[in-house]
Formats: sequence, structure tokens, C-alpha cells
Amino acid sequence: MKKSEQLINQDSQYFAKPGRIKYYPLAISHGYGATLVDVDGNTYIDLLASASSQNVGHAPKQVTEAIKSQVDKFIHYTPAYMYHEPLVKLSKKLCEIAPGNYEKRVLFGLSGSDANDGIVKLSRAYTGRPYIISFVNAYHGSTYGSLSMSAISLNMRKKYGPMLPGFYHIPFPDKYRGMFGSPNVNTVEEYLAPLKEMFEKYVPAEEVACIVIETIQGDGGLLEPVEGYFEALQDLCKSHGILLAVDDIQQGLGRTGKWSSVTHYNIEPDLITFGKSLAGGLPMSAIVGRAEIMDTLDAPAHLFTTGANPVSCEAALATISMIEDENLLQGSTDKGAYVRQRMDQWKERFESVGDVRGKGLSIGIDIVSDKKNKTRDGEAALKICNRCFDNGVVIIAVAENVLRFQPPLVITYEELDTALNILESAIEDLESGKLNDYDIAGQGW
Ligand SMILES: Cc1ncc(COP(=O)(O)O)c(C=O)c1O
Repeated sequence: MKKSEQLINQDSQYFAKPGRIKYYPLAISHGYGATLVDVDGNTYIDLLASASSQNVGHAPKQVTEAIKSQVDKFIHYTPAYMYHEPLVKLSKKLCEIAPGNYEKRVLFGLSGSDANDGIVKLSRAYTGRPYIISFVNAYHGSTYGSLSMSAISLNMRKKYGPMLPGFYHIPFPDKYRGMFGSPNVNTVEEYLAPLKEMFEKYVPAEEVACIVIETIQGDGGLLEPVEGYFEALQDLCKSHGILLAVDDIQQGLGRTGKWSSVTHYNIEPDLITFGKSLAGGLPMSAIVGRAEIMDTLDAPAHLFTTGANPVSCEAALATISMIEDENLLQGSTDKGAYVRQRMDQWKERFESVGDVRGKGLSIGIDIVSDKKNKTRDGEAALKICNRCFDNGVVIIAVAENVLRFQPPLVITYEELDTALNILESAIEDLESGKLNDYDIAGQGW
């Protein structure tokens, strides 16, 4: 029996079901750059980057050295009671790189989910208003606050409701499909109409604390907004005294070619959350926002015993330095443009590729069974993923049918070429009926 098979069998005896979405039997031994090595010695090009938490790649020396050096000094002392330098240095750095031309403050947590809970607390406290609005298809995390904000899967609702009160969801201004899956894209005004109706009939705008957006809906299928929507939304927020918050947990820190994905739009959110790649994969999240909002609550309203861990802080400082030293923001933009030169042709060449979209190295490939109607083909997407896996490339499908192309930003051009060759031939094989034998039952979201 292969080592990975043994390990996976053991895993199923001890690790509970809600903690993993099943794709492939990949048991990781170690990694470097954009390469993963499994426990049987097979290597893979990683196009998932641990759900975008490895933007600087696997085990980069700059980050591992920083971690080792801090571990020998002290592993942790809780910021709930005392002070330490790594926290101060990281807070200062985050205030510098986060968007927003205003005085900022930072709060730390352990995962993106808790940072989004912080948005709920801070915006409710600052405005004195109860309601939070976010988007259908959003994924904001797994705690009750971030679950209540999310609207992507019934598995995140069934059996453990009710969610927190006071949350509403509006359609995401998808620039590929229109509302309710229509092949016709809606205008900014049409996308704003449900929100305006809400304000007229059942949610008083003056009682809304905050609207939370993902600039590109990540797990929702790498959805990009129609042009001008976020700007119009911000105007609406301003006119009603509603705060605007951006969850940049997946799209931030170089994923789209910028420190923050917000920079692609003409908006200035009041609060922004980071996580995932922030500490190179160590548990860490941060809320960065306007000082007067961030200071609105009193301790211990948002603190975590092991939050702002100095090891994670040093890992984060090293991650940010590495992005700077290796010019990875530009790298993400350039490599994104490089792969798009080829992928964009797939829209013409393949019947099954309905759309290719995204920014930098945050790209979605929308697999369809009918291009005109933009009919999602989740089975085909998973078959492509399985073929890629068999040929040494790790890629998953989200939102049923969207291939999620988010490699570590350090991926080389050679690796990109290899991955694109494998991906392209998997799509060819799909279209010539060679992938029919893949059994995809039980896989995916
Ligand atoms: C946009 C977004 N927000 C929040 C989260 C939750 O982060 P975490 O799983 O670290 O709690 C995720 C995770 O996938 C995410 O993609």
C-alpha cells in the first residue's frame, strides 16, 4: 500500500468530516516554491497555493529563518496584557501597505474568519446600527459572524442555525453572468436595484452599519464586478452613513498584483481584513481600519490569547519583505498577463471554456456545457482537475465549475508553461471524450 493511502486511511479514522472538502489523495511531505512533494515522493506544481495562503511559496528561506530566529527568543506572550516589538513593527507596516488615506489602527486574530467577525463588532459599535449587508455567493469564513455574512453553500447553514440576526445579502455584480444565473449581464443600476428596494421596503438604510465586499469573489467562482459598481455602492454607502468594508483575505497581499485588491477600484473602504498569506501560512489575520472606528470598542472586545503571536508577526514581516525584495507584486501582474495570453485564446478555441477572468495570479476559468447560455459544467471541471492531478498539477474547481488558478506568486515561467500545457491538454481530452472514466462522486464543494 502506498504511504499516502495509509495516511489517508488513518486520517479518516480521526479527522472529522466538516474539516475538509474532498478533492485528491494528496498527502504532503514537503514543498518548495510552487512545488509540492507527497509522502510517496511524487512532485506536483501547486496552482492552489494552499487556498492562497502561500503567496510567497512553500518554505521560503526568508520566512523559515525569521520563524526559527523568533522561536528561540520567545514563542509567545499575549498582547492581551503585554507588549512586544514584532507586533509594533507589523502593525506599522500594515498601516503603510493597506489602502486608505487616513490614520489607521490594526487588530490581530488567528484566521480570516475572526477578522470578519471583528468587522461586525466594530461597525455595529461605531455606527450604533445593527444591520450588516454582504453578497450572495460570498465566503467570509467559518465562525458564526463570518458564516452569517457568507451565502455560498447550504452546508454552511444546515443543521446548526440560526445564524446571527441582522444579516442581509444582495446579488454580486457578476460581469460574466447576470442575476439568477442569466446569461445576460446586468447593469450597475440593475445590480443595485435589490439593495435600493431593500432600503425602501424592509431594511432602513439608517440602521445599516456596514456593507462587506470581496472585490473578486474568490470561492464564489473568482467573480469580478461590472465596472463602476463598487464606486456607485460606495456613493450609496456615503449618502446613508454606512461603512464600507473589504474582505481582502483571499485577494490581498499580491494575489491580484497589489498589496490590496482595493487598489484596482476607485474606492476607499473604512475597514479591511487580511489573512491567509499574511504570515506565510502561520495562523494570523488582521483588521486594518480608520483609527476612530478601530478604537471604538474597549478591551477585551476583540482579543485572542495567542493573537499577534511574535512568531507569526516575524513570519508576516518576512513575508512582506520577501514580496518587496522579489518584486512579487509586479511578478503577479506580469505572470498573470503571461498566462492570460494563452488562456484567453481558450475561450475561442474550446467549446467548454466560457470565460477566463481575474487579476494578476487570481484567475478563474469557467467551464460550461453550453457557451451561449453559460451553463455551468461542474462535472467537466472536476474531470479536468483530476486529469491535471494525474499529470502532476494541483488545481481545484470552486462554485461547481470554475477552475481556480492561484499559484504561489514565486512560480517560475517554466512551471507556468508546464502547468498550462497539462491544463490545456486536459481540456482537449475532455472535449475528445477521453475523461469519461473519471469518477468524481463526492469530490468538490
Ligand atoms: C475571502 C475570504 N474571507 C475569509 C476567509 C476565511 O478565512 P479563514 O479560513 O482563514 O478563517 C476565506 C477563506 O477561504 C476567504 O476566501
